[in-house]
Amino acid sequence: MEVVIGPSAAVLAADAIEALVASRPDAVLGLATGSSPLPTYQELVRRHRAGTAPSYDEVRCFLLDEYVGLPAGHPQTYRETIFRELTDALGISRDRVAGPDPSDVRNAGRRYEEAIVAAGGVDLQVLGIGSDGHLAFNEPGSSLASLTRIKTLTARTRADNARFFGSVDAVPHHVLTQGLGTILRARHLLLLAAGAGKADAVAAAVEGPLSASCPASVLQLHPHATVLVDAAAAVRLERASYYREVYADKPDWQGL
Ligand code: GLP
Repeated sequence: MEVVIGPSAAVLAADAIEALVASRPDAVLGLATGSSPLPTYQELVRRHRAGTAPSYDEVRCFLLDEYVGLPAGHPQTYRETIFRELTDALGISRDRVAGPDPSDVRNAGRRYEEAIVAAGGVDLQVLGIGSDGHLAFNEPGSSLASLTRIKTLTARTRADNARFFGSVDAVPHHVLTQGLGTILRARHLLLLAAGAGKADAVAAAVEGPLSASCPASVLQLHPHATVLVDAAAAVRLERASYYREVYADKPDWQGL
């Protein structure tokens, strides 16, 4: 696992995504929603508008997760959110953006797994981390081998996400989420975290024991996981000075 601490997470993440799409125009991107990836998405859109980005016309996208119980087209569905925040602006047609289908919860998991496999798997998966260490919507206690399925949100996650809904009562209780086993199948994991509120979760994920109690610790099992954090989110990392030293001495050719 590579841990990069600094203010340039959005630029580094955008560089990695662009490098992938430049080398493989039909790349499969796994997209997270929430606040953490927003600066990266804004950077990608800025470069696209500046005319310096590769074409995204052939890219396919898979969402990490989706709420259950919101009406289709609700602005807080993750499908609408990703259209608004990224894919429409990059010119990716909506039929190339897939998410788990909340109108068919019973079959959605199996069908979503099949769709990801049929697309050839996810090349690069963008991730955030919940303040309780959740990854996608895999709450603490989730199987480390889990696949896409329905989950029940914890009270803490519903409270964290209330800001998007106006009140905690409006936040759905149920979601569909890629499992931790699904996420591990992606070829490159890119986790973004910023702010002091994520410091404990980042430390547990990166340096704590591998445990379902911290779902994001599953990154420790992945052969190509990159964690991009700002200084505030890194304050609980015991090996922070080592990560800084490694990054400072990193060969230019290596990329993320
Ligand atoms: C949300 C999402 C996750 C996200 C995480 C952190 O509930 N389901 O995909 O990574 O929790 O969210 P944020 O980036 O807004 O802090």
